[in-house]
Amino acid sequence: MIYHHHHILNKEIASVKRKNKTIGFVPTMGSLHHGHLTLISRALEENDIAVVSIFVNPTQFDKPADLKKYPRTMDADADLLKTLKGPVYIYAPLPSDLYGDNVVSKKYNFGGLEHQMEGRFRPGHFDGVGTVLNLLFRAISPDHAYFGEKDFQQLQIANKLVEIEDLPTKIVGCPIVREESGLAMSSRNKRLSPKLLEEAVLIHQMLVEVKKYFGRYSIAKLSIIVEKAFRENEHLELEYFEIANINNLKTAARKRAGIKYRAFIAAFAGGVRLIDNIALN
Ligand code: PAJ
Repeated sequence: MIYHHHHILNKEIASVKRKNKTIGFVPTMGSLHHGHLTLISRALEENDIAVVSIFVNPTQFDKPADLKKYPRTMDADADLLKTLKGPVYIYAPLPSDLYGDNVVSKKYNFGGLEHQMEGRFRPGHFDGVGTVLNLLFRAISPDHAYFGEKDFQQLQIANKLVEIEDLPTKIVGCPIVREESGLAMSSRNKRLSPKLLEEAVLIHQMLVEVKKYFGRYSIAKLSIIVEKAFRENEHLELEYFEIANINNLKTAARKRAGIKYRAFIAAFAGGVRLIDNIALN
């Protein structure tokens, strides 16, 4: 069932809640792939019903061209969701249904998480993400909300958001789903030519390489290896490579005992921006 208006969805949700049933929520921007479906299947396993939002959120795009080019495949998305076993409610609002007349971001202080990596290269991005998640969480009142580690920084921001906004939802992180080639699944992959799909595998290959040598090499040396590999590839352009503390996402210049790290890459493949990351220890 597709809902375009939250007041209608709210009635359904109220009746679900009256029966003491739990709600697992998966926020998405649509153009669904197997990565999204894994999150939704998990939501169905761990809750009585799943709610999936499909909404290309204008306030989290810093470049209007990127927002315009974002793939939109509503009919195919609805068909894909029908293949899942269990009650899945789709919420596909217009901006006005969520935001009213004022489609702007609230300003958040996520304790510094918002200034690292994606926040540095996409100004205002996490204010947009925080704003839309807060609106969605308040419209849906989920027991659990599922996020992919593919967007690890976003997952940490979601954790911080429920704390700041004092929301009762528990955030659940889910592993990255990959193509057989290793490339992380992404709606943006639909914009890549077969050649670029092949070349983009370098992103995951370098993350695996970094993980392999993390115990042996310094972070400086690992950075040099990654930067060189991207310089030598004429199809890809590295935006950043970082090794960061998984809790505060601060860039690590050197390794310290007792801290968990992940490696992060953002790169362009023919103008399409791709991100990926890997746990190192
Ligand atoms: P979107 O890019 O559609 O992603 C929706 C959810 O699917 C996110 O939690 C993302 O991390 C997860 N996801 C995407 N690709 C994945 C993969 N290969 N493996 C595992 N999980 C994957 O992220 C957004 O939308 C938006 O920013 C949103 C949270 C909906 C707010 O507008």
